[in-house]
Amino acid sequence: MKCKTPLAKLLRVGSHQAAALAYKLGLSSKYCFPPNFVWGTGTSAYQVEGAHDLDGKGESIWDRLCTVEGQIKNGDTGNIACDQYHRYAQDMELCRKLGLDVYRFSISWPRVQPLGRGPFNEKGMDYYDRLIDELLRLGIEPVITLYHWDLPQALQDDLGGFAHRDTVQHFADYTEAMVNRYSDRVKFWTTLNEPWCSSFLGHQTGYHAPGIKDPLIAAQVAHNLLLCHGAGTIAARAAARQKLDLGIVLNLTISEALDPKDSHLAEKVFRRDCGFYLEPLLRGKYCEAAMAGISDLREGDLKLINQPMDYLGINYYARNLVSSSGKTHPVPGAKYTQMGWEVHPQALRRLLNRIARDYPEAPPLYVTENGAAYSDVVTDTGSIHDSERQAYLQSHIEQVALAIKDGVDVRGYFAWSLLDNFEWAEGYDRRFGLIHVDFATQERRIKESGLWYKRTALSNKIVLPRQP
Ligand code: GCO
Repeated sequence: MKCKTPLAKLLRVGSHQAAALAYKLGLSSKYCFPPNFVWGTGTSAYQVEGAHDLDGKGESIWDRLCTVEGQIKNGDTGNIACDQYHRYAQDMELCRKLGLDVYRFSISWPRVQPLGRGPFNEKGMDYYDRLIDELLRLGIEPVITLYHWDLPQALQDDLGGFAHRDTVQHFADYTEAMVNRYSDRVKFWTTLNEPWCSSFLGHQTGYHAPGIKDPLIAAQVAHNLLLCHGAGTIAARAAARQKLDLGIVLNLTISEALDPKDSHLAEKVFRRDCGFYLEPLLRGKYCEAAMAGISDLREGDLKLINQPMDYLGINYYARNLVSSSGKTHPVPGAKYTQMGWEVHPQALRRLLNRIARDYPEAPPLYVTENGAAYSDVVTDTGSIHDSERQAYLQSHIEQVALAIKDGVDVRGYFAWSLLDNFEWAEGYDRRFGLIHVDFATQERRIKESGLWYKRTALSNKIVLPRQP
């Protein structure tokens, strides 16, 4: 057990029980997380790997988008990124230094199957063997995401990517090959990361790859991605070499009205955005708003999407403010991160409670991403005083603790991100890392927030603010 306390010894009970009791009785403000609570961090392939055309890797839709003028801030690309393809051993050693239990990363589909169908690329698959083996050697559990936004460009060019149903079968085939290859060593798998972004940012606003602005296809793409999740889940279970923990990661947030008179609007937005995913995944049905946009919904689709899941991953950064006037920014007195996102940790507790209450059929929850971008400065002594990031992480982890106390089954927390990396359309201008990266030299330095996170993860406890 991670927390050893004198009270536990005195009462001759487990430390976790003693801490919970002390907390309940108001004797202590320290909250000890459940003994098996998982502490981790994450990255995604395109954001960190680099080596964009090495060892037989195919082009992805993000490689392509980065060549389009004006799409990415400062003309940045993921060509080199953090060069994790070559520096993975150093990065995993840093992960170990942070005392983390798990590392969440994604497989680049075009690295292992350059055209998205047909032959697999042995050299690309070797890379993930090396990464996984290194993690296991260091005692860190790998968590694999199969799709974190980097579709093989060939599938986009030849079929129209996720707008075409054939991509579902290709995704299932790719999943089968990956699970077959790595599931002897990897138990924890995610089909898709934030399919809302791939669908609506990728096909409606055009802010993300493939950079399409066609509101008429975005909902269909969202549906096809959910089919990928369903078909991928079935393929993964069939190919698994051990019992897997399989789930999906969604960017869910609570919608709240700036003015209480608009709360019905906020409710509508919550049901539309979160319901779009939670209803089909957990209940095998779509809400009306979602149905309206899907042109090709076939018999059996909802059954395919509604696969049993072992967990649901939630990425939370900020709440979604709604107002009938359309103006929600800035909220008087609120703090914002460098992304312009409001810092509102309490909404994370409300979100976790709301999911648990509205969806009792939901599997256990993990906070699979949470973090903040700030412009960090390296001091003369080489340290990075990122107190705002530390405060952000601390305040959100407190709310996770409170949600667990409320009775919500939250099993783990992953800070985003292990290291500064390519922040999609914002390029390298937004630093989310616990570890600072000097992109000119590729030098890594653990930030103060990273050291704080390490202490929290190792002690498995947090000091909570006064009882609300
Ligand atoms: C995600 C992300 C990350 C982003 C992070 C910050 O899953 O949301 O894709 O890749 O870097 O969310 O914007």
